[in-house]
Order: sequence, then C-alpha cells, then structure tokens
Amino acid sequence: MNEKGSQRFVAPQKKTEDAETSIRPQSLDDFTGQDKLKANLKILIEAAKQRGDSLDHVLFHGPPGLGKTTLSHIVANEMGVNIRITAGPAIERGGDLAAILTNLRAGDILFIDEVHRLGRAVEEILYPAMEDFVLDIIVGKGPGAKNVRLKLPRFTVIGATTRLAMLTAPLRARFGAHYRMDFYELDAMIDIVQRGAGVLGVEIEPEGAHEIALRARGTPRVALRYLRRVRDYAQVRADGKISHTVAEEALAMLEIDPLGLDDLDRAVLRAIIEKFNGGPVGLDTIGAAISEDSGTIMDVVEPYLLQLGFLERTPRGRIATSHAYNHLAIPRTDEQVTQNSLF
Ligand SMILES: Nc1ncnc2c1ncn2[C@@H]1O[C@H](COP(=O)(O)OP(=O)(O)OP(=O)(O)O)[C@@H](O)[C@H]1O
Ligand SMILES: [Mg+2]
Repeated sequence: MNEKGSQRFVAPQKKTEDAETSIRPQSLDDFTGQDKLKANLKILIEAAKQRGDSLDHVLFHGPPGLGKTTLSHIVANEMGVNIRITAGPAIERGGDLAAILTNLRAGDILFIDEVHRLGRAVEEILYPAMEDFVLDIIVGKGPGAKNVRLKLPRFTVIGATTRLAMLTAPLRARFGAHYRMDFYELDAMIDIVQRGAGVLGVEIEPEGAHEIALRARGTPRVALRYLRRVRDYAQVRADGKISHTVAEEALAMLEIDPLGLDDLDRAVLRAIIEKFNGGPVGLDTIGAAISEDSGTIMDVVEPYLLQLGFLERTPRGRIATSHAYNHLAIPRTDEQVTQNSLF
C-alpha cells in the first residue's frame, strides 16, 4: 500500500488526491452505488470462480471519476489474482505489449486504462491474444523472417475508457462483458462522502454530507475532492466539524453552485449562449472560444450538462436548452429561440 501510494504521488493531478488516503474501496461490498452493475459483475465473477476459469474480458466505460479503476482493482481482489496496470498511450510499440503479455500468469488481469488510445499495431497484437491466447511474432528480418506463434496463459483484459465511441469495433467486440458506469444517485453519494469523512477522520453532520453530495455531480472523485476542501475550510474558519453551513460556505467560496456547476461548466454554457446564439455549435469551436481543451469539455463538462438537461446534442452541434438560460438567469431572445429550434 505504501509503495503504491508513493508511486502514485507522481501520477497526474487527478490521481494524486485519490491516493492521499486509503479511501479506495477494496471489495465489492465496500463499493457503494452502481447496484445493477455490481450485481452483474458478481455473477460474472462467481461463475468464473465456480468453473475455475479465468474471467472473461471486461470493459468499463463512462465519465471520469466514477470508479472504473477502483472496480478493476476490486475485480482482481475478488478473483484473488494479480493485476498488471498499464494504459493505452503507455504501450507504444507491439514489442511493449508482447513483453507484458509474455510475463502474465494464468488468471492474471491486465488492466488497460484509456484503452481507446492504443495504437493500430498494438491493437493487432492484442486481438489474437484476447481471442485465442496466442502471440504472433515475427522473428528475423527480410526474406528469412519467420512467423512464430506463442501460446499465452488464459488471462483477462480489463479495459477502461471515457470514450466508448473511439474504441475500434474489433477491439470492442473482444470484450465479453461491457459495463457502463452512470452518475451516482444522491443516496450513494451521501454514503461515499460519509465513508470518506470516516477515513479522513473528520466529523461531519448529515446535512453537511448531504450538501457536499448534492453538489458533486454524481461523481465520487469530485465528492471526495470537495470533502477535502470543505474539511480545510472547517478547520480554518470553524471548529473543524462539517455542518451544513460550513459545507455551503466552503463550496460557495469554491464557486460551486447549488447544482454542482463550476466555472468551466458555466463558461461553456455562457459561450454557447452569448457567442453562438445558443447553438448549435461543435465542441471544438466552444473549446477554442474559451481556450479549453475540447477533450475535457467532452469528458467532464458535457455528460453532466446533458444529464441536467442543460444541453442537447444535435447532428449540427450542441444547443443550450431553456433550463440553461434559466439557471444562468440569461433571458432568451426571439432570435435564439428561432435559431435553436431549427434543428
Ligand atoms: N463507488 C465508490 N465508492 C467509494 N469511492 C469511490 C467509488 N467510486 C469511486 N470512488 C473513489 O473515487 C475516486 C475516483 O475513482 P476511479 O479512479 O476509480 O475513477 P475512474 O472511473 O477510473 O476515473 P478516470 O476515468 O479518470 O480514470 C477514487 O478515489 C475512488 O476511491
Ligand atoms: Mg481510472
């Protein structure tokens, strides 16, 4: 655990806070929410265990911070097998993948994060490995080169992606079990905040947990991040305890509004409304208008705004709905109404 923790400290920003404490649940029973997904996953695991077989290849997809990585570790724990962790962009050449595959033992899990970012050549090695547990390699060069087929132990790939649409069809087809992660219900979010407070050793009133959960856009990573910031505020400005008022004040200072929208969400909506007459407009254009990476908008901003019903997706681009205008208290002009309804 310690070793893992120190490794993760140098990982990208979003991950470092996850690892700050042992907040990550270790078993399916500790994993709150996503009940349907969990029930299906339990059957998959039980069935494989009963047969004494390796687990079928599993694909988790959904917005960031909902628990794809966490669940992958849990699956390894529940199966009692080793997990080897890598990511699409980290496997640059076919040889890199071949080296990983030949080191796997029977039953092992190979976790590939951002699986949509695997290169073509690498994917082509992965196909037969996943399907038939073989590795085709070419030995030698030129006319004397030979195709050699190595047998691999039966292993399991768990892929995670925030962009299902970017996954190639043949790769997608090789995952026997697909699980879509959805934003969490409020009750589950409250549990996650409370459990997080327990791990952090901070006192929290039910109303305080409720307020944080409410504004965390159905996303555990966001809830745990807010929890830490609210804890800081409670420590400096109050008596250390997270009450409803403390949560409200701290989140207001961070400019998280009551629906959980932050600066970036509001900037995106404002741009659509004020610069593009309410839409339709493409994500790349919005990104350019507010100098923000369109990938971030696609992964983080758009799913939540769609879920709130603030955005609509059309073949021509995104449109801000009347709910968005109301929330930002921007009147909708006749011109906007006409333009937006043409699509
Ligand atoms: N159901 C849950 N219960 C409690 N904590 C959770 C749950 N799901 C996620 N978390 C916590 O939220 C954080 C983010 O989870 P995780 O890293 O698994 O998300 P992810 O889906 O892999 O995100 P990304 O797409 O960015 O890789 C972690 O700290 C994890 O412990
Ligand atoms: Mg992850």
